[in-house]
Amino acid sequence: MNRHYIAFTTPETADIVTDSAPTPKSGEVLIKVSHAGINRADMLQRLGLYPPPEDASPIPGLEVAGEVIAVGAECVHLQKGDRVCALTHGGGYASVARAREDHCLSLPETLTYEQGAALPEALLTVWYNVFERGQLAEGETVLIHGGSSGIGSIGVQMARVMGSIVLSTAGSAERCEAVRALGARFAANHRKENLSAQFKSAGFAGQVDVILDIAGGDLVQTNLDLAAPDGRIVCIGAMRGMQSEINLATLFMKRLTLTGSTLRRLETTERARCFSAIRDHIWPRVVAGDICPIVDKVYPLNKVLDAHEHMRLGTHFGKLVLDCQIGR
Ligand SMILES: NC(=O)c1ccc[n+]([C@@H]2O[C@H](COP(=O)([O-])OP(=O)(O)OC[C@H]3O[C@@H](n4cnc5c(N)ncnc54)[C@H](OP(=O)(O)O)[C@@H]3O)[C@@H](O)[C@H]2O)c1
Repeated sequence: MNRHYIAFTTPETADIVTDSAPTPKSGEVLIKVSHAGINRADMLQRLGLYPPPEDASPIPGLEVAGEVIAVGAECVHLQKGDRVCALTHGGGYASVARAREDHCLSLPETLTYEQGAALPEALLTVWYNVFERGQLAEGETVLIHGGSSGIGSIGVQMARVMGSIVLSTAGSAERCEAVRALGARFAANHRKENLSAQFKSAGFAGQVDVILDIAGGDLVQTNLDLAAPDGRIVCIGAMRGMQSEINLATLFMKRLTLTGSTLRRLETTERARCFSAIRDHIWPRVVAGDICPIVDKVYPLNKVLDAHEHMRLGTHFGKLVLDCQIGR
């Protein structure tokens, strides 16, 4: 069986290359990929700014949805023909992809493959950073920055179903309104001046227990200002800059925790542990339709550069997805 996959031979060249499909290793399944989710990390990899870990596939693509077509030794839950979505260790921008069985979620008939492809990376990122690192508890207040993003649009919904008061940000009044429709009690426009003042006038300054920061830079001090005593701030992105100047007094006075992570460097066993927790706490709410993936647009695999440009421009709401069904 052949595999077709995307190779970025230069940052502006996406070739479709054909080779033999890989065989699943022990504990892995082989997935006939229907759709693959697009992430900012893929764009950075294409530009040479975010090399994949040494043990990862050099093929871009971190999440897929499709049909299991082969199972490796020691797989116990999945079998050929199962519909799944999965986190991949690279290799998702392809017609077939390997994934660890314990990094897969069984996709119900109520969700399409394009919806499934929008889920694994966002679910895992939010679970690990908000609920594990941030220790968000029921009844607490959480600020999920970028509720309009692939990560944030799922994060707002996850925090809502877990019983938190959800606050968010987005880049226009219309986008803030759409984020409120996902379950945020208040959403501030990050493109307007003085974000802190917007939260203050809404009554939330100094009230936020957990903050998921996707932008870094000057947002870090804003987060410290908005946090409640003993608040936890988890930074996972740097769209506003890698450098931040902060007033340590804010940290000291409120006993804040400032942390961060990157999923690509999270150990396999940790990811599997998080998927297990997601299966218990979150997946039933996805299956019930209480958490709904938002797919803004689907691009054919050979239009991957157009899809990346769409993401760079930032006009999407939710996720961008690739249709990987070449010649089927
Ligand atoms: N560390 C990890 O493990 C990990 C995992 C996944 C993602 N991430 C990071 O998380 C971020 C979001 O990823 P994604 O895939 O969800 O991206 P995305 O769908 O492209 O969304 C980008 C988001 O950023 C907001 N934004 C853009 N410029 C901003 C600014 N100057 N200040 C504040 N917000 C701004 C956008 O809001 P508007 O469009 O409404 O303006 C939008 O909500 C990226 O930085 C990504 O690298 C990290």
